[in-house]
Amino acid sequence: MKSVIVFSLAVVSCCALPSKQDRKFPDDFIFGTATASYQIEGGWNADGKGENIWDYMTHNTPEVIKDQSNGDIAADSYTNYKRDVEMMRELGLDAYRFSLSWSRILPNGFSNQISEAGIAFYNNYINEMLKYNITPMITLYHWDLPQRLSELGGFTNPLFTDWFEDYARVAYEEFGDRVKHWITFNEPREICYEGYGSTTKAPRANVTDIATYICAKNLVIAHAKAYYAYVNDFKDSQGGECGITISVNWFGPLTDSEEDEAAAEIKRQAEWGLYAEPIYSQQGGFPKEFSELVAKKSDEQGYPRSRMPEFTEEEKSYVNGAYDFFGVNHYTSYLISATEYLDDSTAPSLYSDAGVGSYTPPEWPLSASSWLRLAPNSIYNALTHLKEKYGDIKFYITENGWSETSGGDDYNRIKYQRAALESVLDSIDAGVNLRGYMFWSLMDNFEWMEGYTERFGLYSVDFEDPARTRTPNKSAFVYKQIIKTRVIDHDYEPDSTTMTIDQGR
Ligand code: NOJ
Repeated sequence: MKSVIVFSLAVVSCCALPSKQDRKFPDDFIFGTATASYQIEGGWNADGKGENIWDYMTHNTPEVIKDQSNGDIAADSYTNYKRDVEMMRELGLDAYRFSLSWSRILPNGFSNQISEAGIAFYNNYINEMLKYNITPMITLYHWDLPQRLSELGGFTNPLFTDWFEDYARVAYEEFGDRVKHWITFNEPREICYEGYGSTTKAPRANVTDIATYICAKNLVIAHAKAYYAYVNDFKDSQGGECGITISVNWFGPLTDSEEDEAAAEIKRQAEWGLYAEPIYSQQGGFPKEFSELVAKKSDEQGYPRSRMPEFTEEEKSYVNGAYDFFGVNHYTSYLISATEYLDDSTAPSLYSDAGVGSYTPPEWPLSASSWLRLAPNSIYNALTHLKEKYGDIKFYITENGWSETSGGDDYNRIKYQRAALESVLDSIDAGVNLRGYMFWSLMDNFEWMEGYTERFGLYSVDFEDPARTRTPNKSAFVYKQIIKTRVIDHDYEPDSTTMTIDQGR
């Protein structure tokens, strides 16, 4: 009897699929971390930097920030950049995603005047990374628009598309000999809806019925102009790639009813399809069902035309296909209903246009951010959906992360990251062409309207200390181990609190 049992166990282990414990990340898979200029740099007016919309808003209306703080000094990466690179080496990162501050490079927003000090700062940062084989990945725009351009309407001015292309050209010209990965915009939804269609990001324009859609159209055209500037004038000599980063959280149906599935699709179109469809879908232009819905509502509301602008055929084909990859910022999931949890606001806006309800089960663990829960299979659901929709294109996860109120033994962050990376492996197993994963964030930083009350860092930053000392949390040791072994070991427990730099890093 005993031998029969042994035999059958052997059969099971010989022929079963590799256990999740054994799965490895491909050798060329890129592990990194991500940050953004306004959130970490400080030096808000150092060496001739111009004012941007976050400087302006936090200085003039500090009460809109939860702890009345600002990014004047932030983590002071403007002076601590060598320590930042040292942390990248401690973690053993392959890549680092960071953004350029437009007004540090072009103090008045336009490219007639380029700041030498601004260029020197980024050259130093980039060269320090390259010294240690860390691949820089640059985001051109992570929310810090020069204030002067904002006064001219910012993203709602059609000329914005030229201003952005001019700025992008300066960046390619100055850094493209060494930087091979370019992201035009970070999170269009947060720029357009939160910044222009509501009050939850600068410049808080709050033109709820119309501004989100005008911004969306100008933004994707600006993206395409910057993309073609790279492809036509830099790619051959510099050999890099250019894409955009869109926040793609997962919106699945609350029940398996047809109505809920249709509601989830409308929500996906409203949240990220507005920006992804014009660039990645064959059809081009804004997403079909959602634009029809907005047109119908606009008519009922007495607007002479749809509140959502149209793309001309020429614009459609110009924007369509303007990418080398799709950057995905992914954090969480929501369950969408056609009939339950509906918002009662009726004033025209992105949300009332979609007109669906959104629910998150309380059993999904909650972070320090009200919107961020650990949802099951979240990355897998989002990426396999994108692959099905847009085909076999190249993806990077350009952000994924978890907030706490303080640092130290951040076991929930570890749990979240391990679950996320299992979901990354599931996606790769399902055939998604996913090339890398950037964890948000390397260190604690200015979390926009939440100030310093929500901490996303693998390293804690002491914001009371003028030196802005950085200290690794438990999660930093765990991420380092994953990068080194290319395996997620759920039993690994860091036995040290001191970080060292491994040989060859
Ligand atoms: C996405 C944004 O790109 C980043 O700036 C922000 O800090 C994180 N989400 C966390 O909220």
